[in-house]
Amino acid sequence: MKRVLVTGAAGFIGSAFVRLLLDKRPDLRITSLDVLTGAAGLLANLDGLGAASHRLVQGDVCNRALLDSLLADEDIDTIVHFAAESHVDRSIDGPGAFVRTNVQGTWTLLDAARQRWLRSGHDGAGCRFHQVSTDEVFGDRQHIGDATEDSPFRPRSPYAASKAAADHLVRSYQHTYGLPVSITFACNNLGPRQHPEKLVPLVILRALAGQTLPLYGDGTAVRRWIHVDDHCRAVLAVLDAGQAGRAYAVGPLAGTSNLDLVQRLCARLDQIRPAAAPHADLIRFVKDRPGHDQVYRTSADRLRTELGWRPRLDLDQALDLTLAWYLDHPDWIRKATARPAWSQWLSTWYGDERD
Ligand SMILES: NC(=O)c1ccc[n+]([C@@H]2O[C@H](COP(=O)([O-])OP(=O)(O)OC[C@H]3O[C@@H](n4cnc5c(N)ncnc54)[C@H](O)[C@@H]3O)[C@@H](O)[C@H]2O)c1
Repeated sequence: MKRVLVTGAAGFIGSAFVRLLLDKRPDLRITSLDVLTGAAGLLANLDGLGAASHRLVQGDVCNRALLDSLLADEDIDTIVHFAAESHVDRSIDGPGAFVRTNVQGTWTLLDAARQRWLRSGHDGAGCRFHQVSTDEVFGDRQHIGDATEDSPFRPRSPYAASKAAADHLVRSYQHTYGLPVSITFACNNLGPRQHPEKLVPLVILRALAGQTLPLYGDGTAVRRWIHVDDHCRAVLAVLDAGQAGRAYAVGPLAGTSNLDLVQRLCARLDQIRPAAAPHADLIRFVKDRPGHDQVYRTSADRLRTELGWRPRLDLDQALDLTLAWYLDHPDWIRKATARPAWSQWLSTWYGDERD
């Protein structure tokens, strides 16, 4: 890995990954690609990362001509593909954008990599296409055990279906053409720079403002959580030592309910920013998300045993760090919530509970 293209680099996880690379691999040449026009991609996420070895290109992963010239001009040998439409609620509201970016965009990138890396006289040695995927492709695991990397996909939201379709394409390019690929299936991430339409920052910001904290259904849906930096270390471990053609699930050993997660956040806020009443009093159960999966869980045994990866932070440590970051970065919050799309989205999804 010498010259890396990171797609979706101005999003939550992509920007954390660029930070990790600049810190741990200063010898790498990094090209960041992001369309920067949707809800989550934010130039401010790359603040301070203007190293000589790092270049940001604003562009769309569906733009084949752009991809062809980037891969050739930068002589890219590694693609780490984070770019996606990533919010399940938005996928219910408008699935077309998810099919376009997540399926067509991934295919466009795969095909550009195939043409560049497997051109006549080249066999893709030393190259890697890494697909960043999600545990949601394995569907609701309420009445079945942990998914493994070899479990059949059973996606149930338009978001998860679009990611699963992309993952199928990634695997097909390895099988059919011999493109060197890898995939990680990560659980829910938390940490700095996650767009405030996602659960953890949404709860932090609303609780600080004294607004109600909407929770879908009865709050018993179970998710596994890791700090974004632990996820990024897992992706780097797979790039460094994971086999081409292999997939790795990323996550902790246990999950927690959404209600428990929000209560933990509220308890912390009670200590740091006490209000007249406990913050948990702001919790309101709202009409459940259509088709809401109850439980996601994947086993990260392969990543632990083959690559020695472990999360460095447990959930409480990750929550503490995340909360501290949002409290320390009001400017970032202002930028992230300034776009009109944000308030429109809030009212669509949380209507009556919006205050
Ligand atoms: N957030 C999580 O908990 C989580 C968990 C598992 C997997 N993932 C996966 O990790 C990846 C990153 O997720 P995230 O939470 O950082 O999402 P995010 O929404 O914060 O970032 C996605 C980025 O992709 C960019 N993008 C969207 N469409 C694009 C296009 N057509 N061309 C170029 N860039 C485009 C956006 O501008 C944004 O910066 C996604 O593939 C997601 O499926 C996320």
